[in-house]
Amino acid sequence: MISLAVLEPGGDAATALYIVSFSLFILGLKQGTHPSTAKRGNLIAAVGMAVAVVTTLLLDGMGNWGLVAIGLAIGSAVGAYASIKVKMTEMPQMVALYNGVGGGAVALIAWSEIRHGIHIGGAMPLEDLIPTLLAAIIGSVSFWGSNIAFAKLQDLIPTRPLAVPGQQIINAVLGIGVIVLAIVIAINNDPPSQFLFILILVAAAILGNLVVLPIGGADMPVVISMLNAFTGLSAAAAGFALQNVALIVAGTLVGSSGTILTMEMATAMNRSVANILFSGFGGAPAAASGSGEQRPVTSIGAQDAAIKLAYADTVVIVPGYGLAVAQAQHAVKEMANQLESRGVTVNYAIHPVAGRMPGHMNVLLAEADVPYEQLKEMDEINPEMSRTDVAVVIGANDVTNPAAKNDPNSPIAGMPIIEVSEANEVIVIKRSLSTGFAGIDNDLFYEPNTSMLFADAKAAAGEIAAEIEQL
Ligand code: TAP
Repeated sequence: MISLAVLEPGGDAATALYIVSFSLFILGLKQGTHPSTAKRGNLIAAVGMAVAVVTTLLLDGMGNWGLVAIGLAIGSAVGAYASIKVKMTEMPQMVALYNGVGGGAVALIAWSEIRHGIHIGGAMPLEDLIPTLLAAIIGSVSFWGSNIAFAKLQDLIPTRPLAVPGQQIINAVLGIGVIVLAIVIAINNDPPSQFLFILILVAAAILGNLVVLPIGGADMPVVISMLNAFTGLSAAAAGFALQNVALIVAGTLVGSSGTILTMEMATAMNRSVANILFSGFGGAPAAASGSGEQRPVTSIGAQDAAIKLAYADTVVIVPGYGLAVAQAQHAVKEMANQLESRGVTVNYAIHPVAGRMPGHMNVLLAEADVPYEQLKEMDEINPEMSRTDVAVVIGANDVTNPAAKNDPNSPIAGMPIIEVSEANEVIVIKRSLSTGFAGIDNDLFYEPNTSMLFADAKAAAGEIAAEIEQL
């Protein structure tokens, strides 16, 4: 067994390096709050993580370098491959998977700490045992819950809510059960019982599955963000058990930022986190009044759309998931450039849950160099809608659906929407009358001031740009 062992755990040098690493995490997070600095923020946080990993590897007591090297090689290869291959639209699944791996790693660390305690013999100090048990419970729930979230978003299992009768009671029994087991371990701690500890891992695993299975696909981003917060908390608990200051700070950062994001997303959907977790909503199949219905719509071509847009004073572009699928951001920017060269004022209305991940539209439009000042958040743009000549909805559906306001029985009832109907005219660019993520029909398509342009978003935006240039 080789060991570099140049740093003493808890010593000044190790602590100083850990302070450098978590300062970089904080700086990275701060830079991540603005699209123009977000990439740099990511890089800074990655450097912080590299400092933390190297510091940990250099600690006295770090052992099996062969295993460490294999772990590093596999992890780096998977991470590098995924970052190149995974499409932007698949990012939520990837976050779920990575988050789950983090929770699983924490649960395994906790198990190894228990085994270490048993090996040493005698009672484990409670200041080590309690955070170890917490890390095991939260890490295991997070690992299994995140895997279910991944499977739903990847369509490996049905995205609709899957619940068993008496679900809430079973969950409550499991939740109370793991706490009771943890208390029993802490009381009879001489040494701690590995059998009871494994029972905790198993019960928490079942709980993680049962908590996420009844949640529908559309609510998954909120759930992933919540599980992310859980993983952070479990990592912080593991940090206390291992007396590793970097893990405590990093875990707390993940825990608190995940919690803030969860609350923000729930607020954006006008729902409570409890409602998202327990209402079995978010994966409703297409409503009976939905996509099969035959109602007249006004359909137009790219040339007519170009004329409507070119002679407008103000245009608001409302991007959605379809823009991401079509990778239409550059074509849309070109269309906006053409309009601006004719003196039209162009803005973009950004709904907080447009697309499939927080900030999805901001990232895409930043990629096409859309000026940040033109991106208007929902609360800022909605009051402007009645003064807008043309609203162009590109690959968006649910985030413009008036049913959210008008139909209390709609699965998206209460979700604030971009009020495109208030604009003088609306052009909706999508390939068909198909539903969006929530699986429900959209009355917007049938309104008298709406024209449908049935086409792929990228092709349509390109054609409109070319037509405007000809005018
Ligand atoms: P959606 O309601 O999902 O609608 C997207 C529309 O894009 C579809 O109706 C589809 O219609 C169209 N589309 C697909 N490919 C296209 C293409 N190549 N060209 C043109 N159009 C295309 O999207 P949204 O309005 O952005 O709403 C987001 C939904 O996802 C919400 O329900 C939200 O709760 C949920 N969600 C959000 C997130 C986050 S955090 N952003 C994460 C997961 C889920 P056609 O098939 O007719 O073209």
